[in-house]
Amino acid sequence: MPDFFIGVDSGTQGTKTIIIDESGRTVGKASASYGLIKGLPSGHMEQHPETWSKAMLTTMKETLRDSKINPKQVRGIGVSGQQHGLVPLDEAGNVVRPAKLWNDTSTAMECAELTDALGGEQEVIKLIGNSILPGYTAGKILWLRKHEPSNYAKMATVLLPHDYLNYILTGNRTMEYGDASGTALMNIRTKKWCLKAVDAIDPDLRAKLPEVQPSDKPAGNLRKEIADETGLTTDVLVSSGGGDNMMGAIGTGNTSPGKVTVSLGTSGTIYAFSNRPVVDPQGEVAAFCDSTNSWLPMVCTMNVTVATEYARNMFRLDHGEMEKEISGTPVGSGGLLLLPYLTGERTPNVPNGSGVLYGLTPETLKRGHLLRSAMEGATLGLNYGLNRLRELGISPKEIRLTGGGSKNRAWRQIAADVFNAEIVTLTEEEGAAYGAALQALWTYRRSLGEDASISGITDELVEVDEESRVHPEPSSVKQYEKLQRLQDKLSQTLRTIFDEA
Ligand code: XUL
Repeated sequence: MPDFFIGVDSGTQGTKTIIIDESGRTVGKASASYGLIKGLPSGHMEQHPETWSKAMLTTMKETLRDSKINPKQVRGIGVSGQQHGLVPLDEAGNVVRPAKLWNDTSTAMECAELTDALGGEQEVIKLIGNSILPGYTAGKILWLRKHEPSNYAKMATVLLPHDYLNYILTGNRTMEYGDASGTALMNIRTKKWCLKAVDAIDPDLRAKLPEVQPSDKPAGNLRKEIADETGLTTDVLVSSGGGDNMMGAIGTGNTSPGKVTVSLGTSGTIYAFSNRPVVDPQGEVAAFCDSTNSWLPMVCTMNVTVATEYARNMFRLDHGEMEKEISGTPVGSGGLLLLPYLTGERTPNVPNGSGVLYGLTPETLKRGHLLRSAMEGATLGLNYGLNRLRELGISPKEIRLTGGGSKNRAWRQIAADVFNAEIVTLTEEEGAAYGAALQALWTYRRSLGEDASISGITDELVEVDEESRVHPEPSSVKQYEKLQRLQDKLSQTLRTIFDEA
């Protein structure tokens, strides 16, 4: 009788849930999509946490039904969530207001205010290891205090998106190292709340932050109500879960030094496992913890499939048609370059930035060129971040690619050429959901007293898809190096203009 584990990936565009068996094989999958709350002022990005919990439970029930496994053999659930969102819960456990999300840029003022109060950016990096960026949770909490004091007064607990889903599953209000490191309130070196940063928002906030716990400590057991609704048992252990990048690291086998994962999703992320904290003196590389009790230096750009999907929808193409157009357009799009900051940007930190097309000529003002420049621009934007990671000593020969964009062959080649590294995808494409299920398996084995290591588990179970492997093409690498210099220069030059506009 095999044991089964459920992995839930609650994202910004939808939820994906998978079931794996103890040999790591996926036996069931279901997904549900949803959007953002419409009609909010520019820069405000919100979703209601109930949208996530409904999607989690519907997809769990669907995949349990379709996979035809015996629900009584499910031993663990792991939850991956979009990072940084603020879920304010009242005393009774109700959500006080919708969650402000990772891509909400409306809190730039609050971030600047907090940074000043703590003595400037260098001081903040000394205190917590990170800069305070609008994506992170700290600015959202101060925003709530300033703009909605009555909602702030009702808030009894601060949770992150995946912690909220753990709360729905277990009834416990918990936080683990990985996602907590993205609040900008935890010192990532000591893995403890930085009380100075917390007090800068409000000394009363201390009591509203759950204690941060190790990633192999379960969030709890499944509540009876959820067990009854899904057919699972209350013996099911809910693991600590983590942010989607932390879970993506597990699901792509990035649990020991030397590996690098790039995720091409709504946001783009590049991250590497580290067994020590990696702090960027410039604060551009996020010094996060992972969700296996180690660290995960990471770069995040906000406009990856955001840019390619806008371009694709503008020309009403399906994914296959877009790939064909891009493959038929020369490398470098004839010099057409998109600075893809459509929704403002985090790396570089230009929350008020916007997209810029450079190099329009009669030859480049064409559909294929516009589409290719969106894909290239998003990838060059990520490579700016990879170059920052390289400066901190992380230099990949092979990159594991995950996220929606990794399915596109043309994009895989562009990635190999821009990053100048081999690119390979994973047999299980749902990296974050798979990582969540593997974390649940790890937690379950440890709860039985086994000395299971997460890297032992991922080395054994995570498979790369050799057929997907692409190598960098030297002449394209050269062309992209030139475009990279141009993009970096354009970006640098426009920063003051973004602030003025
Ligand atoms: C990372 C980040 C995004 C979200 C997307 O810091 O903000 O990658 O986690 O869900």
